[in-house]
Amino acid sequence: MDFVCDNVNQRFAPSVLGWQALHGRHNLPWQRSRDPYRVWVSEVMLQQTQVATVLAFYERFMERFASVADLAAASEDDVMGLWSGLGYYSRARNLHRCARVVVQQHGGEFPRTVKQLSELPGIGRSTAAAIAAFCFNQREAILDANVKRVLTRVLGFQGDLSLAAQERTLWQLATSLLPEQLNDMPAYTQGLMDLGATICQAQKTACSMCPVHDLCRARQEGQPENYPVKTRKVLRKQRTNIWLWLSWGAQIWLVQRPAPGVWARLWSLPELDDSQSLVGLSHSWPGEAEFLTPFTHALTHLDWHLQPVRWSLPQGFTESQIAALLAPLGSGRWIGISQALTLGLPAPLRRLLTSEPRSLSDLSI
Ligand code: ADE
Repeated sequence: MDFVCDNVNQRFAPSVLGWQALHGRHNLPWQRSRDPYRVWVSEVMLQQTQVATVLAFYERFMERFASVADLAAASEDDVMGLWSGLGYYSRARNLHRCARVVVQQHGGEFPRTVKQLSELPGIGRSTAAAIAAFCFNQREAILDANVKRVLTRVLGFQGDLSLAAQERTLWQLATSLLPEQLNDMPAYTQGLMDLGATICQAQKTACSMCPVHDLCRARQEGQPENYPVKTRKVLRKQRTNIWLWLSWGAQIWLVQRPAPGVWARLWSLPELDDSQSLVGLSHSWPGEAEFLTPFTHALTHLDWHLQPVRWSLPQGFTESQIAALLAPLGSGRWIGISQALTLGLPAPLRRLLTSEPRSLSDLSI
């Protein structure tokens, strides 16, 4: 490919390999293994989450589900419970589904080719290539967001990556830069990820420490942050709701969220549109609302402004009295707080339930 001059082609992979040996990450728990199950779980957890966050979740997950067969045999609630707090919950549902496909259709063994791996639920081309490179020394290019940044900068690749044709071209270029030796594939793949995560960050570059700084077009141009070029911007939506934290003795009222949608099938608090809905719903309830500190939860396409409102119903009420009060809320369950914490909960709800909330006197929504 004439985009990549010979000099870059020859020097890129050896430079990344030399740097990875000295400065890359070597002791992450998933690096001590070439077991595709362990590597796959780590790659899925790392898809939208930083290493420091993943570490604790990964160890707990591996203790509970030591093999793909253990994961396949687990209930969805168990899997979601262990994932709770990592976010992007469709990853956990796909992980569970994928484990079942590997057990049922592949005899419990992960396939070895990128083509077969990427046919599994939740495994895209880059994750498939990472598994193939790390576990089977295959000569396959990865191209996650970090790697796109590194490669577009080094190559001065100005194609718009919101266009599929430009992304295809970048895949070809990534493949042309791979090392010749199959044995080098794991270290090279890790090195590219590490470079993107530590040296060649989106808004902060440490070019003087970069092993390919003398090859890098973006550095020569003086503005590495201009890459990658992506013209289609995600439009963020705004949404505001009341989050109703109803308690009755040591129990709270939880509803399972609908799928598809945000936090699909996680257990959460009922949402109300606004304070009028709360007044309409609660006019016959004993006690009063306590407005807790509102917060904004940022999702990929949405800023969700949530106002938690706590309401404690009298412990002396009978089950049928409570059921009558709650009838307009629809289906849900009373669950003890400690049991609730074992379920798949949205991260902000887990924080809310485990921290002592501060009261706010006014309601601004
Ligand atoms: N991000 C994605 N995969 C990774 C890995 N294997 N190590 C570190 N960061 C990563």
